[in-house]
Amino acid sequence: MNFHILTLFPEMVMNGLNTSIIGRAVNAGLLSIEAVNIRDYAFNKHQSVDDYPYGGGAGMLMQAEPVYLAHEAVAEKIRSRRPSGQSRPRTVYLSPQGDVFDQKMAEELAQEEDLILLCGHYEGIDERVLEEVVTDYVSIGDYVLTGGELPAMVMVDAISRLVPGVLHNDVSAEFESFQDNLLEYPQYSRPEEWHGKKVPSVLLSGHHANIEKWRREQSIIRTYERRPDLLEKCELTEKEKQWLNS
Ligand code: ADE
Repeated sequence: MNFHILTLFPEMVMNGLNTSIIGRAVNAGLLSIEAVNIRDYAFNKHQSVDDYPYGGGAGMLMQAEPVYLAHEAVAEKIRSRRPSGQSRPRTVYLSPQGDVFDQKMAEELAQEEDLILLCGHYEGIDERVLEEVVTDYVSIGDYVLTGGELPAMVMVDAISRLVPGVLHNDVSAEFESFQDNLLEYPQYSRPEEWHGKKVPSVLLSGHHANIEKWRREQSIIRTYERRPDLLEKCELTEKEKQWLNS
């Protein structure tokens, strides 16, 4: 999968995404991440990319043209590689006004071959270019950040780990929080006893069916205690519902 991040701060995103699992996947050729500097597409000799908002108000806005040219350069590259693909490549604008990012959205976006992530900074971007290039508006939560770079990095991380091969152990992307809208069960490693706390004996039993049953119960309890809002979306069996209400 190929990520194309349009930003005024390319070093910020590249430095943050070249380590650990994501860095390894890039080196292995499973992912590519390019940061395109919008300033390279400034059309005046001062290379400025921002200006005052019409009608007044605090701060500066990113101008339409450099954003458009940076997007066109990337879109053209994608189109030339995939002549039969969509004419409008999937383009996410990171904004607190967008749909809130969640695991389901990550799974859906992980199906794309190319994803363009457009990061605003300052007070945002001239609305007209957003209307022309953006296909999805995405927020990472109900708070306001100084720019879209951290949200773009969050999305790249969450989506990349769903790309086949990125996690060495493919099952580890399957049994985890938000699978079926349940939180993940607690996990333990050696030693068997630490600070007087013992590893639950069922996990030492080697009895796989019992372990699965215990993990499912723990997931349900944990979701009930920590994220009861998720339980409404989750498909529990009649037996599990009775057990939870008892
Ligand atoms: N830009 C600023 N705040 C943001 C947020 N919460 N999500 C996505 N993009 C943003």
